[in-house]
Amino acid sequence: MKLDTQIEAKIKEIIGKMTLDQKIGQMTQAERQHISPEEVKKFSIGSVLSGGGSVPGDNKLSDWVEMNDRFWENSPIVEDLNLRIPTIYGIDAIHGNSNVRGAVIFPHNIGLGAANDPDLIERIGKVTAKEVLASGLDWTFAPTIGVARNDHWGRTYECYSEDSQIVTEYAGRIVKGLQDDFGDESIVACTKHWAGDGATVNGVDQGHILLPEEELRRIHIPAYIRAIESGVQTVMVALMHWNYVKCHGHKYLITDILKNELKFDGFTLSDWDGIKYVADNFYDATMVSVNAGLDMFMISEEWESFINNVKANVENGRIPMERIDDAVSRILRVKLRLGLFEKPRPAERPYSMHESFGSAEHRDVAREAVRKSLVLLKNKDKILPLNKDKRILVAGRNSNNRGSLCGGFTVEWQGVSGNDKIIGGTSIWEGIKEIAPNAVLSKDKFGMDADPEKHDFAIVVIGENPYAEMEGDVRKGNYWDRTNNSPIEMAPHLAGSGAYSQTLDLENTHPEDIHTIKNITSKGIPVIAVLVSGRPLVVNSELDLSSAFVAAWLPGSEGKGVAEVLFGDYDFNGKLTFSWPRNDDENWNVGDENYHPLFAYGYGLTYSD
Ligand code: BGC
Repeated sequence: MKLDTQIEAKIKEIIGKMTLDQKIGQMTQAERQHISPEEVKKFSIGSVLSGGGSVPGDNKLSDWVEMNDRFWENSPIVEDLNLRIPTIYGIDAIHGNSNVRGAVIFPHNIGLGAANDPDLIERIGKVTAKEVLASGLDWTFAPTIGVARNDHWGRTYECYSEDSQIVTEYAGRIVKGLQDDFGDESIVACTKHWAGDGATVNGVDQGHILLPEEELRRIHIPAYIRAIESGVQTVMVALMHWNYVKCHGHKYLITDILKNELKFDGFTLSDWDGIKYVADNFYDATMVSVNAGLDMFMISEEWESFINNVKANVENGRIPMERIDDAVSRILRVKLRLGLFEKPRPAERPYSMHESFGSAEHRDVAREAVRKSLVLLKNKDKILPLNKDKRILVAGRNSNNRGSLCGGFTVEWQGVSGNDKIIGGTSIWEGIKEIAPNAVLSKDKFGMDADPEKHDFAIVVIGENPYAEMEGDVRKGNYWDRTNNSPIEMAPHLAGSGAYSQTLDLENTHPEDIHTIKNITSKGIPVIAVLVSGRPLVVNSELDLSSAFVAAWLPGSEGKGVAEVLFGDYDFNGKLTFSWPRNDDENWNVGDENYHPLFAYGYGLTYSD
């Protein structure tokens, strides 16, 4: 982005009047549960965040606005200028403002990739910005523009594709939608996780990216270039290691490539406590990561210790003052560009508590995204579209479960199950019910009540339960030992985190699903299977037994969009942006040698096929 001379002059003026303590405070981002508004003032804190599922009060919109109001009014003041430096509040609004009760939940990125519609992506960005502004906040830790190369990774669903092309195209549009022109409808975007987060060995979260620089640049960096061209203001650094160096301490990656070569002039943000693992102790880790080029530090609890360590490092000459000034300049630049200094307190901003939050208008955009994201993998004898008057049995674990449709990073970090916590929207069953008057829900969910006298067809909704990050990894015990250059069980700081399963094979992880299908097909009733999942799964048996098979990804709160397509109000549009495996040992990416997945990148049937 072009530097604005007035803003640059203002930055110089402010920096010139700030104390070292105030500067270090600006570089600090603390988690809301571990800092009070009074401490924000006392330590001149630059930013507060919500970790996944960290919500104020009853998680009502007003709780959020009131909370950020309190942080805002305790923002540090630069005495000489009598100037408040507003704290900026960041949240994982990664598929809508998804922590907040009643928000519209969009499909996770994997589904949006299949939709292949850049205009839609920009509109989703705009709606998300408004829903974040409605809660009085300023900044989303999104979009994820990783290119996921291994479906075993628990964050596959946060990515648009295994290929960089769509990710790159989307990166610019989503940033534009979120940041707009830095006016009243804008929030700050954050592309993450720099760089190559989707490329770890075996898809292990926070694991090792072992790639030559050429490949990192060819596959994983183009989307960042596009995002920077589109003016993205913040970049979150990956918790991964690149060729055995922790990204959080990687000066070449952060300073040389991102800032100097790609001319990124906003600020970099560390990921959750990520600097801790850069060195054996916090003092050294702080020095290494500040000097590597990190500007703001996301520290869950030990932010005070971070502040003391930065200060000690500066006083001992281990962190140059110019580096501190550069970090703070970048943070101020973003706050000035966003117009945060001129904005009134959160409660008085134009979109605060806005009636459009969770509105039908916003839900329409999400439902459109659901419809466009569905990929039809099989349609034997053109069984779809279904006639709305037919007698349809709706079964399967995920048939009436809005929580499962939303997946991880929804209301809680790991997501939720059931309908209670997802306020608004429809499950797939609730959507079908509105469209097909003769549809009924299986009493036990498992289709035991299937009866050819009563049911013409069955729609069976199967798939994964919600998960997020490392908890969603499908692991076979392959972590990498840096010192010995060999696989180990698990990185020490992740030892407590339970991997989702050991296989991508649905028959193995959720045998109930194939049983549900069999309960119905054994009665001679044809099954239309709808798979709810954050990645392609091995579903050979389920595919074989079903007459039609739809990959619905993690569609979010508007399950009715699925029904609208199944009953032919709209045609299928989605195409795979991930290659579909035949078995758990395969890991295909488009362009691979001897490429022969079950369904290739780009596959997807329509009604006219
Ligand atoms: C994730 C980030 C996220 C942050 C804040 C981390 O664990 O890696 O993507 O933005 O938490 O919730």
